[in-house]
Amino acid sequence: MRPEGYPLLERGHDGEPFIYLDSASTTPRPRTVIEAVSGYSERLGANVHRGLHPLAEGSTEAFERARHRVAAFIGAHPSEIIFTRNATESLNLLAKAMNLGPDDEVIFPASEHHSNQLPWRVNAKPVLVDIDDEGLPRWEQLASRLTARTRLVSVAHVSNVTGVIAPIEEWIQTAHAAGVPVAIDAAQSIAHLPIDVRALDCDYLAFSSHKMFGPHGVGVLYVRRDRYAQLGLGNVGGGMVSLLHEERFETREPPFRYEAGTPNIEGVIGLGAAIEHLQRIGMGKIFAHAQALGEQLITGLRTLPRARLLGGRGARRIALTSLALTLPNMSATDLARLLADAHGIYLSGGYHCAHLLHERLELPGTLRASAQIFNDAGDIDALLRALHELSR
Ligand SMILES: Cc1ncc(COP(=O)(O)O)c(C=O)c1O
Repeated sequence: MRPEGYPLLERGHDGEPFIYLDSASTTPRPRTVIEAVSGYSERLGANVHRGLHPLAEGSTEAFERARHRVAAFIGAHPSEIIFTRNATESLNLLAKAMNLGPDDEVIFPASEHHSNQLPWRVNAKPVLVDIDDEGLPRWEQLASRLTARTRLVSVAHVSNVTGVIAPIEEWIQTAHAAGVPVAIDAAQSIAHLPIDVRALDCDYLAFSSHKMFGPHGVGVLYVRRDRYAQLGLGNVGGGMVSLLHEERFETREPPFRYEAGTPNIEGVIGLGAAIEHLQRIGMGKIFAHAQALGEQLITGLRTLPRARLLGGRGARRIALTSLALTLPNMSATDLARLLADAHGIYLSGGYHCAHLLHERLELPGTLRASAQIFNDAGDIDALLRALHELSR
């Protein structure tokens, strides 16, 4: 049965149905999100925080309503929500605003997505936490990595390769005990489990709209309010200054200080609608579904011959995992293509922006399956059947 409420999934590709197991890459948009985006263009379409006519006021109101919705979704205050282009830009913005230097150490696991490695590698001194042979970080190493030069610990809440949920609560406690702030890369967790930044007590949190049913080109950086005092500037230009003289300028208060230039207004409004979609279903229900499908996926993949499963030992997980299947003359990308063409199953094959993880595990790429609330047990069964057929 085709999932309802998602035009792409209802329609199929050129009318052909497919099983979408690639939500870790990007999620299909619900109809309500598409309508929110087009509704803005049809009814308002003006810039925000600038004009003095009804269209501009309406646009600003819709844009700021979305900010309130994002804030409430993660238990934050609206002033703590900065809109960016994506999680990658959020982490880059943080790296820039922290004014890091080559002697400043940033700790992160070797399994991190490139977007949670390169901002720290380029702007600071990277200090890595090792991974085991299933790609899981050796969590206990954090304490031994902290030094007087550590400026930040940055870690994915959920790995985009293994789907395993990180023990971030313990990491935040350990880092804070040493006086070090923590950034959470929530790109993969935001659409699968409830997040409360106050309960977590994290300092920063980054995520992308397009992995949580929203439009592309919008991301969020949450900054705990008291942390703003320690941050310098990000991008500069229109929208972030309150006054500019010949010799000096004055900046607006956060979050506007960090939103130079015209934002992706329809994208932000679409993100607000995406959060409404998630809330309508309920994050508790979504998480329970992710755990159930994740368990089914892992249990099924364990019985697959010639397969090396990543993150199978992870106790807490979502429905996302990667595996290496040793088949003659078939790379992970060949396999992904074959699954799409011969079985109508769409997933990812390759390195998933985690070269270092694959290099350390000596793997020339993996297949990654990831499910969302519109997937069911039948989709996982179809994948398992296809993989068993291929590995026979
Ligand atoms: C864990 C993780 N972090 C960061 C990113 C970067 O997200 P974006 O490309 O939307 O900036 C991704 C995207 O796959 C991811 O999975």
